[in-house]
Amino acid sequence: MSSDSLVCLKDFEKYAKEHLNRNSWGFFSAGAEGCQTLRDNEEAFRRLRLRPRFLRDVSVRDMSATVLGQRVDMPIGISPTANQGLASPQGEIGTAKAAAQFQTCMICSTYSNFTMEDIMNSSPDGLKWFQLYVRPDRETTAGLVRRAERAGYKALVLTVDLPIVGRRYPDLRHGFSMPPHLRVANLGNADLSQNKKDRNEALDYGMGGPDQSSDIALSWKDIAWLRSICSLPIILKGILTAEDARLAVQHGVDGILVSNHGGRQLDGVPATIEALPEIVQAAGDKLEVYMDGGVRTGTDVLKALALGARAVFIGRPAVWGLCYKGQEGVAKVLSILKEELSLAMALSGVSFSQIPAIVVSPSHSSTRV
Ligand code: FNR
Repeated sequence: MSSDSLVCLKDFEKYAKEHLNRNSWGFFSAGAEGCQTLRDNEEAFRRLRLRPRFLRDVSVRDMSATVLGQRVDMPIGISPTANQGLASPQGEIGTAKAAAQFQTCMICSTYSNFTMEDIMNSSPDGLKWFQLYVRPDRETTAGLVRRAERAGYKALVLTVDLPIVGRRYPDLRHGFSMPPHLRVANLGNADLSQNKKDRNEALDYGMGGPDQSSDIALSWKDIAWLRSICSLPIILKGILTAEDARLAVQHGVDGILVSNHGGRQLDGVPATIEALPEIVQAAGDKLEVYMDGGVRTGTDVLKALALGARAVFIGRPAVWGLCYKGQEGVAKVLSILKEELSLAMALSGVSFSQIPAIVVSPSHSSTRV
């Protein structure tokens, strides 16, 4: 398939479905249980309408933004997804290079197939945040945090929605297996515990089995612990309610990434674009709010910005691009989204991505945000 025939992100999904084996496609595409939330993440965007304004001189559209004080060329970053080596031999390095090429932010998963240092060294100019799972063994966790800080990651993204891995039927039906050539690279390094248990626990993440690699006892008081061991800003990934957003403010975190883990954890929670407004409101100007989940078009991005997200992140679409042509494929996915956002801004009368358009719900209650 030539690059020209892939014109939207859904085309990349189709390509990946046709080219990945059952093991890898099952891992990347799965949602939890009946997949209501997985479907809803995309469908909820379709339920929102944009109200375009005209005669506003849209000859120059500025898509740049800042996230935690760092400038990015567009408000579209890449969320952490585990085991990108299943999509391409380039794995996370291909994704990181594409993100750097577009001067945007990549969040690297704890469960990458390259080490966080190799990913950073592949594209040192690109803004990168490190996604952290707090493990029961705090020394191992602290080791990961220290390495991220040393390697040049600019923030810690603490994933809070995975005390236990959700039930994903494709993985359970067919059994996920990690090909022997791939490593859980961050946990195999010399300054971390070398025991076999680590590798097996990390593999449980992919298998959808009980996940002892996350600390199920993690609670709000541990934010202070995390603060005490590192100086990086802390972002909580997976917050879905105003109540938790207020707690995040009280605990002094720096950002919230509104997320339901791409519909892979608790099925039946709201689509992230639906959860976003109450979190934006609760957070006020105390911290930055981002979102991921179901972002597939430039108009999706614009809707999220209009509802108060400072930036959006994509999970699966980056993996589909990686599967298509490594770095070049991820770059193509990013360029399509960027072009679509630019077009959506022009057609709705918005010149700056951080000055929102007006979104209307089907009930016609218009909200200026
Ligand atoms: C994820 N996600 C995820 N999140 C995280 O914090 N750490 C991780 O290692 C992973 N791994 C992972 C693997 C796969 C295959 C998927 C699909 C997702 C969740 C991810 O960061 C993000 O929240 C969602 O993917 C966003 O939804 P979309 O863009 O995939 O719809």
